[in-house]
Amino acid sequence: MQIRAAVLEEFATPLTVTTVDLAAPKAGEVLVRLKACGICHTDMYTASGVDPSGYAPCVLGHEGAGVVETVGEGVTSVVPGDHVVTLFSPQCGKCVNCLSGRTNICMAIREQQNLGYLPDGTARLSRDGEPLRHFMGCSTFAEATVVSEYSLAKISKDAPLATAALFACGLSTGLGAAMYKAPVFEGATVVVFGAGMVGLGAVAGARLQNAGRIICVDLSEDRLELARHHGATDTWIGGADTVDRVLEETDGYGADFTYEATGLVGVMQQAVEAARIGWGTCCVTGVAGKGETLDIVPRYLITGRTVMGASFGGVKSRDQVPLLIDRYLAGDIDADAFVSHRLSLDDVNKGFDLMHHQDGIRSVIEFS
Ligand SMILES: NC(=O)c1ccc[n+]([C@@H]2O[C@H](COP(=O)([O-])OP(=O)(O)OC[C@H]3O[C@@H](n4cnc5c(N)ncnc54)[C@H](O)[C@@H]3O)[C@@H](O)[C@H]2O)c1
Ligand SMILES: [Zn+2]
Ligand SMILES: [Zn+2]
Repeated sequence: MQIRAAVLEEFATPLTVTTVDLAAPKAGEVLVRLKACGICHTDMYTASGVDPSGYAPCVLGHEGAGVVETVGEGVTSVVPGDHVVTLFSPQCGKCVNCLSGRTNICMAIREQQNLGYLPDGTARLSRDGEPLRHFMGCSTFAEATVVSEYSLAKISKDAPLATAALFACGLSTGLGAAMYKAPVFEGATVVVFGAGMVGLGAVAGARLQNAGRIICVDLSEDRLELARHHGATDTWIGGADTVDRVLEETDGYGADFTYEATGLVGVMQQAVEAARIGWGTCCVTGVAGKGETLDIVPRYLITGRTVMGASFGGVKSRDQVPLLIDRYLAGDIDADAFVSHRLSLDDVNKGFDLMHHQDGIRSVIEFS
């Protein structure tokens, strides 16, 4: 079939919205008709050419939500008509990592996904007979896509798909960090660094875990306003004195949990140092720049702090994304508030501009 898709032709150039070919799903694959797709930093990072693992040409996009149209041989987890969210963080349920139950990092399709192919090492996307690579196993800046069934979470049909798309990446990352990877205990003092999609998700997750105090730190007063809406009890403008302030307000001990959601190694260091002596946990979710390292004075570790990180907030995607969306449907998470702009596929580059200017939390492409 022919579809319209946003192609990254060359790094550091605007995406081109054009017609490409999409082949039918093979065994274990599913064709999804996209209804919505969020525009994420990772798409922009790859488009910029700065990401060392990036490749072009390819069809970008990974925060997709849509409806299953056809399934390949042997697919059992979804049927045509099901509503789904695409997963850059797949879950096969059968690899050594999935079976361990200890991690959400599935190994089944990772290698080919990183190369831009479906699990059998080929692409379903093409142009003039030449294969065109997929992106993060998703390629959802497109009217339709073919993905592995491991890359789809089946969700409630009650969820509006433009909002459901946010659970494909940033929102689940923040929620998962506070609920699954480093689960906040009741009454805990929490500090969240960064109030973008990921940090706000962590704020909401901490609230759902019944934290006692949720301090959110950002540089933008507008974003801190959103943090209050999602459950922050205290909001601070960040600076060099943030760690001292956390210590002052916790009798010199530090916070039970700190979550870093900025991608800045200097802020990661603050998050480590603001964690409580004895049992504080620092969870890093931001993606740092190439070659950057995080400085930790070992004394912070020997005195009982745990430093950890998570991809996709530790969320076991096919099992837990549907549960997070159920919490949204139950009214526990105001996820609609994160959708700041609704764009058409033709406006995808405008979505990058909006992100560049930190205008809104998430721009979402809607497909008619
Ligand atoms: N681990 C994962 O799987 C995963 C998934 C999605 C995003 N991410 C990463 O998470 C990070 C956050 O993503 P996002 O979409 O929320 O980004 P964002 O850019 O929307 O938000 C980052 C926030 O950090 C704030 N900030 C900047 N400097 C600060 C400082 N010194 N102190 C406090 N706050 C500061 C900014 O004002 C902004 O509000 C990025 O690095 C992104 O790449 C990771
Ligand atoms: Zn993303
Ligand atoms: Zn697996």
